[in-house]
Amino acid sequence: MAGTKTKNIVLKTAIPGPKSVALMARRRAAVARGPFHGTPVFVDRAHGALITDVDGNVLIDLAAGIGVVNTGHTPEALVEAIGNQAGKLIHGSFNVTPYEGYVALCEKLNGLAPGKFAKKSFLANSGAEAVENSIKIARAHTGRPSVIAFEHAFHGRTYMAMTLTAKEKPYKTGFAPFNGNVLRAPYPYPYHDVTAGTAFKAFTDLVAKETAKNVAAVIIEPVLGEGGFIPAPKEFLANLSSFCSANGIVLIADEIQCGFGRTGTLFASEQLDFAPDLILTAKGLGGGMPISAVTGRAEIMDAPIEGGIGGTFGGNPVAVASALAVIGAMEDPAFLPRVRALGRSVLGTLTSWKEKYPVIGDVRGLGPMLAFELVKNRSAKEPFADGAKALVKHCYERGVVIMTAGSYGNCVRLLFPLVITDEQLAEAFAVLEDGLKSIS
Ligand SMILES: Cc1ncc(COP(=O)(O)O)c(C=O)c1O
Repeated sequence: MAGTKTKNIVLKTAIPGPKSVALMARRRAAVARGPFHGTPVFVDRAHGALITDVDGNVLIDLAAGIGVVNTGHTPEALVEAIGNQAGKLIHGSFNVTPYEGYVALCEKLNGLAPGKFAKKSFLANSGAEAVENSIKIARAHTGRPSVIAFEHAFHGRTYMAMTLTAKEKPYKTGFAPFNGNVLRAPYPYPYHDVTAGTAFKAFTDLVAKETAKNVAAVIIEPVLGEGGFIPAPKEFLANLSSFCSANGIVLIADEIQCGFGRTGTLFASEQLDFAPDLILTAKGLGGGMPISAVTGRAEIMDAPIEGGIGGTFGGNPVAVASALAVIGAMEDPAFLPRVRALGRSVLGTLTSWKEKYPVIGDVRGLGPMLAFELVKNRSAKEPFADGAKALVKHCYERGVVIMTAGSYGNCVRLLFPLVITDEQLAEAFAVLEDGLKSIS
């Protein structure tokens, strides 16, 4: 494969190349074992949807750093906003001396988040931190202890976020004991026969056992991310909304993966007619800079006392400048319609692959946030995790970066930068389809 050059992919060495291999040896010696690498290639630089590795190979990125660089790698507007801000103020700490950018980003998020009610926002550094703070805010507001999360959920790696996460291996292995007062309900998963109706019945049964007046919050991903790109049915979200508002429970939407343009609208909730009490954003919000937000009903957001929430770095001025530039890019009237068009075309391709390759049991998602689930056979739907792993390897060896997902590790998810060109996508899909042939 080395020595090949197509339109975008440039393979100067085998992948991983010698410099990546040498760096991986240093990584093994110096870095803790825990962090995993889906693609064992060290990046030198990246632009748009193309990544250049340390050996000079150019790869097409279908992962966007786990759905982060939605506006592409190093877009000019972000680079400029980050540079300008860095020259003025890199850190102030909003808890010491506030600055306008923090307020401006909160104003923007309040105006953009779904729901026709007065809103306020709070900024933090990572998705997990947004999750943690949303639970603190919900408990402060309700004075209740319990939180309900869903099967297949992923909410992060800090203790509460990890407790709310469903998948044991690798996220929870060896880390017990977990936080108390967390209960788990089924997430609708039509491919595996969990309908919206069954899931909602199980949810209300669970709340009845716990008694609703003990429940502070329900947290749900409107489209499951790590869990395999399963959109929650509108009917399920509507039932949850009515139930939570009737019982004084704070309903939290975790849009950390499915938000910020990923599904073709700024928030996935918009397409699902869903207006949660609190909505969480991170990843795509900063376009690569670490920042997250909790946005929601003003009276709930104001529950923690002054000094009750905060942090040294939350809403860092440079990250805020980047987030404002991301929002500016997504407000370009051409941006989201192009993303929706991409979604329709990719869905067409994946659907045609499902007809051709029996290893694909299900194709699903929302807009271009699409995945396919690999099975050993269609009738038993037995997960084909080795197939997904082999596909990822097949892809990176040929210059395409892609990720798996799903509780059984048998889904392949598409999280490309939303600025990817048709030509880049076609080239990457040719590699992916070849891989599908090889595992079929
Ligand atoms: C839905 C969802 N929530 C929370 C998180 C945690 O975000 P972070 O890794 O920034 O802490 C993730 C990360 O993948 C996520 O996908």
